[in-house]
Amino acid sequence: MGRFGAITMDASHHSPAAQDSGSLPNRMTVIRARAAGGPEVLVSNVAPVPKPGPRELLIEIWAAGVNRPDVLQREGRYPPPAGATDILGLEVMGCVVDAGSRTHRFGHGDRVMALVVGGGYAEYVAVPEGQCLPVPATLTATEAAGLPESLFTVWFNLCMRAHLKSREWILIHGGGGAIGTMAVALSAVLGCHVVTTTGSARKALSLRSLGAAQVIPYTQNDFWVALHCLCATHGGFDVILDMIGGPYFEKNLGLLAPDGRLVQVAFRQGSSLQVDLAPFLYKRLTFMGSTLRAQKPAAKARIARSIERRVFPYIEAGKLCPVVDSVFQLQEADRAHARIDDPEHFGKIILVTEKGADQGLRPVPPAVHGW
Ligand SMILES: NC(=O)c1ccc[n+]([C@@H]2O[C@H](COP(=O)([O-])OP(=O)(O)OC[C@H]3O[C@@H](n4cnc5c(N)ncnc54)[C@H](OP(=O)(O)O)[C@@H]3O)[C@@H](O)[C@H]2O)c1
Repeated sequence: MGRFGAITMDASHHSPAAQDSGSLPNRMTVIRARAAGGPEVLVSNVAPVPKPGPRELLIEIWAAGVNRPDVLQREGRYPPPAGATDILGLEVMGCVVDAGSRTHRFGHGDRVMALVVGGGYAEYVAVPEGQCLPVPATLTATEAAGLPESLFTVWFNLCMRAHLKSREWILIHGGGGAIGTMAVALSAVLGCHVVTTTGSARKALSLRSLGAAQVIPYTQNDFWVALHCLCATHGGFDVILDMIGGPYFEKNLGLLAPDGRLVQVAFRQGSSLQVDLAPFLYKRLTFMGSTLRAQKPAAKARIARSIERRVFPYIEAGKLCPVVDSVFQLQEADRAHARIDDPEHFGKIILVTEKGADQGLRPVPPAVHGW
């Protein structure tokens, strides 16, 4: 075994085996960060199984997605919002095992995927019913677990806010990550002309198969020149999705077409800068940004309903599906975090629980993608 291995149970906690008088256990295994740091700070310990509120479902988790915000939380740079659990994890797939008195759509035994405010690296989670979606028959359980965080983020930002339309030109920075792969695939099925950047020539092939018309390596010094050359042929990008910020901001403004929209979902290279804002006036540009996690359950429920109406037809037709990079056991969350820090990862990293294993879900080593 390498530097990371199966996480051992924190010795200060008891076994999760105790059951209450019903069929559900009253304690469960969860993964938390014991301190700010690298993947090795992740520990397994025991927490009470949550009780669903009146408008909540209790989900027995089969699989959970690993996301960049989980890494930032582990590093102590992204604390959970007030009132949210410190158990990691923002998305799950599983089976409903209990429902609050004011839920109306899903019931015991239904398979759902859900966006959660935290608590996904666990065996059970209570989640507002509005944040749950049925699992389309075209998705495997692990694909479904990796869908909500990226799809909610991408759909909300690109379509509900930036009003991305068919035949528009879109530039997606960082196409190889979880957000990037979903943004490329979704924009392509919507009929947009998709250009993306990536740090790996080998990922470029996979991004083309997801629907990118052009893939520009951001590791080349002249990649901004290459992007400007592309703009010369069509007049600029209608929408740019950026997660880098810092020095990218002003360069993005230069690439936007008149009435273009710059959508910011993260600032990996800084959020403070001095910039000439004149292009906002003479090109009538719009700048927008958002974070998903901090939004209220009602807002997340609106995104869920919009996705169900507008995106599910593509998923159910087999035209849209998250890219799964690799699958680890819940107890290997440290290895999953080491993988997301590996620039070779492409798409989503998933954790499976023991209940997921009972359903036939198995670890899958990091993919080679046929590169
Ligand atoms: N605002 C929100 O609601 C929200 C929600 C979720 C995530 N996020 C943020 O969105 C970002 C992406 O999340 P993720 O889950 O997709 O993370 P991820 O899987 O780690 O992907 C990040 C990607 O960034 C790309 N990248 C790194 N350096 C780059 C550079 N200099 N230029 C262009 N691309 C570069 C890499 O692309 P390649 O692999 O192609 O090289 C990498 O795949 C994170 O910062 C995350 O915190 C925001």
